[in-house]
Amino acid sequence: MKDNLQSHIVLIGFMGTGKSTVSQLLAERLGCEAVDVDAVIIDRAGMPIPEIFATKGEAAFREAETEALSEVLGRERLQVIATGGGAVLAQQNRELMLKFGFVVNLYASADLIVSRVSQDTSRPLLQGDVRGRVYKLLEDRKHAYDFAHCTIDTEQLTPSEVADAIATEWR
Ligand code: S3P
Repeated sequence: MKDNLQSHIVLIGFMGTGKSTVSQLLAERLGCEAVDVDAVIIDRAGMPIPEIFATKGEAAFREAETEALSEVLGRERLQVIATGGGAVLAQQNRELMLKFGFVVNLYASADLIVSRVSQDTSRPLLQGDVRGRVYKLLEDRKHAYDFAHCTIDTEQLTPSEVADAIATEWR
């Protein structure tokens, strides 16, 4: 459950688990702003994520991600924050999320993730053998999302039902 420092709801989870869609629905429900950390990064860099990876490299993307995340988490009003799937990899980011947010992990099975992301060209880490890459990254990140305050299994739920489940956990 939340305590006083946790002014935001922070959605974490692997790519394709529905963080952005759910953040919009939940923010509407709570009457607050939905913020997508990837969108902040894109806005600041003035280029899409594949181009950031291609021209500056993943390390530069991760630095930009930490900067954007800490700026967004530092805002005082309630926001529902959708993070990128790799934002949890840096310990600094995990600590910030736990300090300033009620952290919710959205879970989906590997097969559902593959079906959702297979046509997508906006995720540089999933180009080529999408299935192979999803399975490999899921293995690499096996426990990366375990630090959340709660986990919602999205497998059998609509995005709207996921938003309801989060609102119930958060209250
Ligand atoms: C990434 C996830 C993406 C985006 C970038 C890297 C990752 O966000 O931040 O492509 O490392 O898992 P989504 O989880 O919103 O797709």
